[in-house]
Amino acid sequence: MKTKLIRNAVIMTMNDNNEVLEGDVAIAGNVIMAIGSELEFEADEIIDAGGKVLLPGFVQTHIHLCQTLFRGRADDLALIDWLRQKIWPLEAAHNEDSVYYSALLGIGELIRSGTTTILDMETVHHTDAAFRAIEESGLRALSGKVMMDYGTEVPLALQEVTETSLRQSVDLLERWHGAANGRIQYAFCPRFVVSCTEELLVGVRDLSEQYNVKVHTHASENKDEIALVEAERGMRNVVYLDHIGLARPNLILAHSIWLDDEEKRIIRERGVKVTHCPGSNMKLASGIAQVPELMREGIPVGIGADGAPCNNNLDMFQEMRLTAFIQKIQHGPTVMDARTVLRMATMGGAEVLGMEEEIGSIEVGKLADLQILDLEDFHAYPSYDADWFSRVVYAATRGDVDTVMIDGEIVMRGKIVKTIDRKRVLK
Ligand code: GUN
Ligand code: FE
Repeated sequence: MKTKLIRNAVIMTMNDNNEVLEGDVAIAGNVIMAIGSELEFEADEIIDAGGKVLLPGFVQTHIHLCQTLFRGRADDLALIDWLRQKIWPLEAAHNEDSVYYSALLGIGELIRSGTTTILDMETVHHTDAAFRAIEESGLRALSGKVMMDYGTEVPLALQEVTETSLRQSVDLLERWHGAANGRIQYAFCPRFVVSCTEELLVGVRDLSEQYNVKVHTHASENKDEIALVEAERGMRNVVYLDHIGLARPNLILAHSIWLDDEEKRIIRERGVKVTHCPGSNMKLASGIAQVPELMREGIPVGIGADGAPCNNNLDMFQEMRLTAFIQKIQHGPTVMDARTVLRMATMGGAEVLGMEEEIGSIEVGKLADLQILDLEDFHAYPSYDADWFSRVVYAATRGDVDTVMIDGEIVMRGKIVKTIDRKRVLK
């Protein structure tokens, strides 16, 4: 078993006490074995992190890797028009190679900006190719094919027969769930109520319980989407999901901006999880999510960049700042402080994925999913009073990420992502 010792770092543990320590982290295989100052540990490899910041890898709880290649082609429209005019035709035009390279390009950008775990949603076809890219890259990911068997506006090429959608999902699950030393998990991805029959959603409910996996969907992102659901199902979005029996602890809702009190109560009482996507919500003019209210009610909220057409570089540093700024402008400067936001980007994401025992913080026994930030420029000012939370959330950028480790393996060092050759991706 390979051992590593990271020395002399400023360790932002993101543990329950938000401890920031100066010292070393010892790793055996994929597990953090010890944390302390001047650790005595025989290591195959020593990583000198003197003056650098060691953070848990970011956990992004809503991504569409299949949309990375659509960046810059989907601007200035609201959700439903954007899907109909841009995203669905582009997803329908995907082939196996384009899904693979879209995923690889997205993963490269995620790793470069310190993200080590994602919850992803692919398109209807070629999801196997996305899983191959994930497997090769070393990223930790939950992913699945998108499911859409309903909706007059959905292009024919993406319209599925209900049974086929469910069967193909189970085939992929059986091939990929638990693969790559457990780094890969399957998640059922019914796109949103607008594109799914009740029969499909009931099937997802039963299969996700049978296989004990997550369900990843969009809900209450946009007012027209909500009106469509109300017109066709006679209920508000989350009320309908609950009516079907899908509102359970394994359900993860992306966006969830326009929740009413009853929907918030259902989410809280049923243990449903939420993902905040601030960049996407602004770009598509979807609205402002009620993040402080949800968190005050004890609902786990993670952060996700959504697809590249919404956030360009899938950059968690940008999403963290937007998360803070949107709430500050409405509720004042302390409503979303740097600690809260950094916690959402790490432990909060882990909680949304039900992986709080495994990832999200730097603690003994947890998996070694880590990033090292080189904030050298700030150290040039020694009298600067070090508030590490402020520095990371408000001052650091993805260009400061120097080294990234997932499952104890170094996937980026000196800003070079190991398994992903950018030229090959862009060819
Ligand atoms: N709702 C249904 N599909 C999508 C999608 O691809 N992106 C976003 N942001 N919302 C959606
Ligand atoms: Fe999305």
